[in-house]
Amino acid sequence: MQRLLPAAFCVVGTARRPLTEAAFREELRLAVAQHSRTKPLNEEVWRSFAEQLHFVATPDDRGYERLRETLDRLDHELGTHANRLFYLATPPPAYASIVRAIGEHRLRGDTGWARVVIEKPFGRNRESARELTEILHTVFREDEIFRIDHYLGKETVQNILVMRFANGIFEPIWNRQYVDHVQITVAETIGVEERAGYYEQAGAMRDIVQNHLLQLLALVAMEPPAAFDDKAVRDEKVKVLRVLRPITADGVATNAVRGQYGRGFIEGVAVNAYREEPGVARDSRTETYVALKCWVDNWRWEGTPFYMRTGKRLPKRSTEIAIQFRSAPHQLFSREASEGLEPNALVLRIQPNEGVSLKFGAKVPVQGIRIRSVNMDFDYGASFMVEAPDAYETLILDALRGDATLFTRRDEVDQQWAFVDPIIEAWAAAPEGPPIYEAGTWGPIEANLLIERDGREWRKA
Ligand code: BG6
Repeated sequence: MQRLLPAAFCVVGTARRPLTEAAFREELRLAVAQHSRTKPLNEEVWRSFAEQLHFVATPDDRGYERLRETLDRLDHELGTHANRLFYLATPPPAYASIVRAIGEHRLRGDTGWARVVIEKPFGRNRESARELTEILHTVFREDEIFRIDHYLGKETVQNILVMRFANGIFEPIWNRQYVDHVQITVAETIGVEERAGYYEQAGAMRDIVQNHLLQLLALVAMEPPAAFDDKAVRDEKVKVLRVLRPITADGVATNAVRGQYGRGFIEGVAVNAYREEPGVARDSRTETYVALKCWVDNWRWEGTPFYMRTGKRLPKRSTEIAIQFRSAPHQLFSREASEGLEPNALVLRIQPNEGVSLKFGAKVPVQGIRIRSVNMDFDYGASFMVEAPDAYETLILDALRGDATLFTRRDEVDQQWAFVDPIIEAWAAAPEGPPIYEAGTWGPIEANLLIERDGREWRKA
């Protein structure tokens, strides 16, 4: 128990459907008991927390009026000064009408601060994202809008900046002169699960590349920010996104690969093809795998490609960033001695087995010279002996504190869509759908060609 929430605090749930306060509290209790990282649920702590949980149904205007009365009353009772954080955990089509209702029914309150947290997906292309921002701006200023990309709340993702900018040894080699290429992988073993309704419309490009992967790329490639605050960090990220070389329709064939999982085996268990999943069209063309070759067109990264890939039903759950360095300029040791030598790589393991490892060549302890690659390892669990906070714990707390550093700003989202839109459009216009890859494999064969054509290969993540 960390007691991170302020003493004067409450949560008011709202939905169109009616629900008693008791039923709302019970629903939350079950969810917390099931998903909390600290188990079992401490009933005493829960009871005092649950007293601060309220519910008001908002099926119509009268409901919203009741909600305002409740918020005003609770402010008065608790002395919370009308400081309000609105959290929209609803399907995206509901965002606009909820935001309008917040405005029309003056839910912001007359004193105190107001902020809104918006879940992804933020729009489904550049245009709709811009429209959504416009709607939000009718009620909230940009600095009051907290767009969630939960990857930014992960400890290991925050550690990218700490590694790069709290240490002196990495930055001098973090550029085109020393880095041959970068590989970013978000691999999942799960399939679409019960989310076909959403996923069929999204696909891996909108679901992972547009947000999580491009954010990881921005954090790896950005210049040192002038300060560690929301403006400076996001300014630097957006500069990277702006110079990401567009993959235009004619470049799609060589720089972008998609795939869709077919039947196969995950950890020895037979799994269905994507098209056999409940809610998925039998002839669906939705991609569940994407691989891209990207270029960051600036001074630091000229000539250093960034390869990115993500997929569902891959052999292993693994998110990692590998900075692959150039070989030593001169090979002192014979080719035979160096057979086991792989290029130096700094691997940031985002999840699981959170940590960082540095791969380098070492002498095998036998007579004569034989070289093999070994790893120098930092392991989060072993080094700190504490369990990291969940991404959402960090993000919600940051939103309550008003720190937007780990949330995506309007211009970031805009650039992210600007990059993925032409690829999505080119795929939609193609006569063929995505190639099928067997579940439990590393994606379609085309993905290997994407990188092997350059004389490189995907890491065995
Ligand atoms: C979500 C996607 O944003 O991220 C999911 O919608 C995906 O499809 C999930 O499974 C992955 O998140 P994590 O934290 O498990 O890597």
